[in-house]
Formats: sequence, structure tokens, C-alpha cells
Amino acid sequence: MSVSDQPLILGIETSCDETGVGLVRGTTLLANAVASSVDEHVRFGGVVPEVASRAHLEAIVPTLRRALDEAGVGLADVDAVAVTAGPGLAGALMVGVSAGKALAVALDKPLYGVNHLVGHVAAEQLENGPLTEPVVALLVSGGHTEILLVEDIATSATLLGQTLDDAAGEAFDKVARLIGLKYPGGPNIQRAAADGDPAAIRFPRGLTSQRDLERHRYDFSFSGLKTAVARWVETAERAGEAVPVADVAAGFQEAVADVLTRKAVLACQERGVSTMVLAGGVAANARLRDLTRERCAAAGIELRQPRFSLCTDNGAMIAALGAAVVERGLPPSSLDFASDSSLPVTQVLVG
Ligand code: KG4
Ligand code: ZN
Repeated sequence: MSVSDQPLILGIETSCDETGVGLVRGTTLLANAVASSVDEHVRFGGVVPEVASRAHLEAIVPTLRRALDEAGVGLADVDAVAVTAGPGLAGALMVGVSAGKALAVALDKPLYGVNHLVGHVAAEQLENGPLTEPVVALLVSGGHTEILLVEDIATSATLLGQTLDDAAGEAFDKVARLIGLKYPGGPNIQRAAADGDPAAIRFPRGLTSQRDLERHRYDFSFSGLKTAVARWVETAERAGEAVPVADVAAGFQEAVADVLTRKAVLACQERGVSTMVLAGGVAANARLRDLTRERCAAAGIELRQPRFSLCTDNGAMIAALGAAVVERGLPPSSLDFASDSSLPVTQVLVG
């Protein structure tokens, strides 16, 4: 089937602080319009749900227009609408789900409420073509940190592990604040770390002791790491020494990258999976990318990673998952489905 014969899927994403509208045919990306409210959260040092919801309301229609323009299509050309049903911020999700329902009704087209986390994995198909399942996905962003086993992108995903406390991006943001760097912390820590020695300070790797590995094999914990950085900074300040920001940033970044990649590679090996997908905003981190590439290569695992604009929250990833679901001929969601802020990853498509 040629690309133009494949159904045109509109995807809507509003689970956190990015309003995303994407257009996709099959695994071909036609448009990916995103409006971020990140600047509005800077002074609070993190995403404020009420602020995010209001920003989605303001951005949804202009972002939809931009996506249609970018793809050179009209609303009448859309064959199906996919929208993030969860997980995410309740009020934020509601904006996208309401918009998706309104469009589906107005256009008389089917609506698919889909899982945000699986959407991150589906985005990879827009970059490098159809995935050969099973794949292990390492999802790392400001809101989530998970290792997923995706047996079938349209129907079946399992949560192998997740963070027990802070998300990886959240840890970057909090540690940045501790050492006087601005929000969002990730890019600023990476910049500072470039001048530092990653081996100068060895920060703890959470849940990697033999005992922890038994109970929390693929889980993460970053709160101990954050506390260790806080203590280290406090001690230096109390001694009247200048905090070596570059070394602290490099040591912290190394600890995060080490534990993330170690556990994701372990999951591939133990589950006999030979493809890993790395996605989420923290996947922009150069050290994390390098270490993942290195360790995957050493273990004979193929690493797949979409470009940055497809790694962070966006509507095209939701359209891509919608396209996979439509291609499989799965029944659409009912028009009265509710968004679910804690939608389990096992539910790829809501009923
Ligand atoms: O996926 P994303 O854009 O948004 C949500 O979480 O919804 O991820 C944002 C997170 C922030 O916590 C930010 O600090 C982190 O990704 N981030 C990075 C880098 N760029 C963004 N973390 C580490 N290194 C980076 N270069
Ligand atoms: Zn996300």
C-alpha cells in the first residue's frame, strides 16, 4: 500500500505541559505541531497542573491549525482521531480528550483513546520504520521513568519496572536547583557537566545492591541520589568551600545514566529481547545516549531512538500509535470514555 492510500490519523497529546497535534499515515510523519507551556512553569521550578491545563485550552486549536497547515491537509481529510487517554495530569488530559471527542463527532470519524507511554514507543516507527517486536523501551522524562516490554505495539505492553519516587527528569530538575542551575535542569546540568570530571565524586546508584536487585530488579529510585547531592553540597558549604558545580553535575549525571542503562540492558538480556527503544525528554542527554549506545553495542542489542522532537511529548507519537491500532482493525473507543490519570501501560487502547 502506498503512503497516500493509508488512513490519515490525527493524534492529540495533552498529558503534561506540551500541547501536541500530529498527523501520520502508517509510519509516515506528515506533521508534528507542539506548543509548550514550559516557560510558564519556570518560576515554580516544576510543572503546575492548573497552569498546564489552562495553557492546553489556549493552545489546542492553534496547534491543530498548525499541524493541518504543515501537512497540507484539511480536517475533512482526517480518517480517524487518536488521543492520549492517560496516564498524565487529570485536568490536562481532559482538555485533549474533550477536543478529540468533539473532532470525532463533528467529522463523524472513529476515536481511539490510547496510552501515552506506549505512544512514546510508537514514535520510533516514524523515525526508523516498523518495529520488530518484542522491544524493551526505556522511557525517561520529567514525568516518568519506566522500562516497558512491548510485545505488540497495538495490543500488548508490560511494565517491567519504574521509579519508586522521582522521575529521572525530575531528579535532574531538583539537583539543578540544589547547585544553583535553572529549570529545566536537564540541559543545564549537561552543560555544566561538560567541564566536570564524572569520576571526581561517586554518587550512589539506587536499587543496585544484590538485595535490592532481588526485589526491584528493573525499578529505579532517585531520591537517595538527590539527598546524597544535597548532603555533599551542604558539607562543602559548611566547610566554607566553593561547590565544584561541574564535578557535582558530572557525577550526578553519570550516576543516573549508569543505573538507567544498566537496568535496561539487563531487561533485554533477561527477556531475550534484541531491540531497545530510548525515548522521553531525558533521552536528549548526551551522556545517557552515549552510554546506552556503548552498552547496547557490547551486549549485541540494536538501539533505536527517534529524533529529539519525537522523544519529548508530542501528538505525532499518539497518531503513530493510533495508526498501528487502526491498521490492526481494533474497535474504536466509545465516545463516553474517561481520561485516566493512572492508566496502566497494559491498556494500550481504552474501550
Ligand atoms: O519528555 P519531556 O520533554 O516532558 C515531560 O516530562 O513531560 O521531559 C522533560 C524533562 C525535564 O525534566 C528536563 O530536565 C529533562 O527532560 N531533560 C534533560 C535534558 N533535556 C531535557 N535531562 C537530562 N539531559 C538533558 N539534556
Ligand atoms: Zn511523556
